[in-house]
Amino acid sequence: MALSSRNFEFVRELLHEEAAVVLQADKEYFVERRLEGLGGAYEKASADQVVEMLRSSQDGELKTRVVESLLVHETSFFRDPGLMTHLADTVIPDLVAKRSGARSLRIWCAACSTGQEPYTISLLLQEHLDSPADWDIRILASDVSGQALDRARAGRYSITDVNRGLPVRLLVRYFQQQGLVWQVNESTRSMVEFRQINLVESWPELPVFDLVLLRNVLIYFGEDSRQTVLERLHGQLAGDGYLVLGGTERIVAPRWRLARKQAPSPFYQPIAESKVS
Ligand SMILES: C[S@@+](CC[C@H](N)C(=O)[O-])C[C@H]1O[C@@H](n2cnc3c(N)ncnc32)[C@H](O)[C@@H]1O
Repeated sequence: MALSSRNFEFVRELLHEEAAVVLQADKEYFVERRLEGLGGAYEKASADQVVEMLRSSQDGELKTRVVESLLVHETSFFRDPGLMTHLADTVIPDLVAKRSGARSLRIWCAACSTGQEPYTISLLLQEHLDSPADWDIRILASDVSGQALDRARAGRYSITDVNRGLPVRLLVRYFQQQGLVWQVNESTRSMVEFRQINLVESWPELPVFDLVLLRNVLIYFGEDSRQTVLERLHGQLAGDGYLVLGGTERIVAPRWRLARKQAPSPFYQPIAESKVS
């Protein structure tokens, strides 16, 4: 049954308030399907009934589940292969050379979904470094979604997941097969720390990062939220560090003190203060 426009507006506002995600007006069918899927757990058949239940109860857990059901977690290992090749061949070697004295790297995957992205970075580093154990490497992997983070922490992937982008050589080397599931190995997991962080709420105390991946999340935000997140991120990025957006994303506002590097990939580096006009 079609979702009433009143309830659709309610859900749109809720998602914007909770995660800054802007649902386009033509997403009614998407919302309907997702809420119908959730309704089964509450013996509610229609999306309208789920929203009415939320309106009348103001149940915090239901609210979280409604928001969670509307987030898009699309991701994969080595997503956007051209960009990953550039990371592996240029960005990681550059950072490793620059940090070879301290042997320390701080990386943030700021919307990590179910974990394929931070684990990919861990694999790239292990492949690049002669002796990864001699380095202090921390990859902070965060997302607003507790459900996605639970899956990410477990590090267990289906055959379909590992068949999407992960080279077989790396699968065999860094994963253990457990029946139909592939489990990320300990050396890969040990570099990654998962935390729930909403990019548009206040951030916990964070280190200065050498590399930040902010891929395929700003596209869901309105312009104000995008600018706010980028402004704050600029303060978290080392002067010679890198920010990486999704394959088709660009920072458009010219006042950004970040310069695009190595086109066509969406890699940015801070512009020295002296060069900011
Ligand atoms: C399409 S996935 C992108 C995953 C990964 N970065 C990639 O490119 O493959 C978008 C992720 O952004 C997360 N997200 C949405 N709004 C967010 C917010 N306000 N703060 C943090 N994460 C958010 C979603 O939960 C989802 O996991």
